[in-house]
Amino acid sequence: MKKIGVIGAGIMGQGVAYQFAKFDYEVCLIDISQEVLDDSKNKIRNISRLDMLVNREKGPINPTATDNIRYSTDLRDLADADFIVENIIENVDAKTKVYQELSEIIQTTAKVVVNTSCITITRIGSLMKHPENVLGIHFMNPVHMRPTVEVIRGVYTSDESIETALKTLESVNMNGIVVNDSPGFVSNRVLMLTVNEAIFALQDRVADAESIDRIHKECFGHTMGPLETADLIGLDTILYSVEVLYHSFNDSKYRPAPLLKQMVDAGKLGRKSGEGFFKY
Ligand SMILES: NC(=O)c1ccc[n+]([C@@H]2O[C@H](COP(=O)([O-])OP(=O)(O)OC[C@H]3O[C@@H](n4cnc5c(N)ncnc54)[C@H](O)[C@@H]3O)[C@@H](O)[C@H]2O)c1
Repeated sequence: MKKIGVIGAGIMGQGVAYQFAKFDYEVCLIDISQEVLDDSKNKIRNISRLDMLVNREKGPINPTATDNIRYSTDLRDLADADFIVENIIENVDAKTKVYQELSEIIQTTAKVVVNTSCITITRIGSLMKHPENVLGIHFMNPVHMRPTVEVIRGVYTSDESIETALKTLESVNMNGIVVNDSPGFVSNRVLMLTVNEAIFALQDRVADAESIDRIHKECFGHTMGPLETADLIGLDTILYSVEVLYHSFNDSKYRPAPLLKQMVDAGKLGRKSGEGFFKY
């Protein structure tokens, strides 16, 4: 593995690109506009600065890691990539378009990783000429601070692809827990329901946002409450994910809280927009 392709330069794409660049991989980061890429370049520099500051006692971090990242709006730049991680918005139609295009461009041996919250890997793999090379990695946020990830085996994913992914993760100081394909996998099947129910509790005025989170932190010993977690993930991503679970399982327990929809309509997306359940 030499060249890593990263598609989508939002919260997750920035983190994934940085993590691979830090371990000296050559990274090509793709997004739809130059403006988004310029913004992501600044944000990746900030991630790098913070990483060096917070982890300075653990040993030196390559100060020029961010130079290993090239920025592009052209998917064809991934023609020679060995390992591709897709992180665009959690929308089946948008992802479908990207994979159909990607399937015509990439090498037949390239491994393709879907970084998704809830969409099944089998569905995405079926769009590709080589579905045996497609697998899921559910990276956690912030990527460089969460070394353990879920690795998802789709119906067509080969053992060799899973092994390659685990080795590649190991090479950037990360480790994977392999699970079978199902909407939301393990983590988000449980987490999204918790977050959505916490939003219902807020909407029903059972408690204010701070108290809901304090109950999780002080009574359960969690490091973050569900509403703070939602703000970190992005409320639009939470809404997309809950909608995917709702449609995938045809189960009303995943119906999105009206307050969640209203906040997304209002542009209150959490940390990335400066306001969600809390102000930043
Ligand atoms: N935010 C999280 O905590 C988190 C955690 C794990 C997984 N995920 C998953 O990772 C993926 C990305 O989430 P995010 O939070 O980074 O979203 P985001 O909204 O921060 O970023 C998405 C990026 O994709 C870009 N994009 C949209 N369409 C594109 C296209 N056709 N080609 C190239 N780029 C395109 C957008 O311009 C944007 O920069 C989603 O599938 C999400 O479910 C998110």
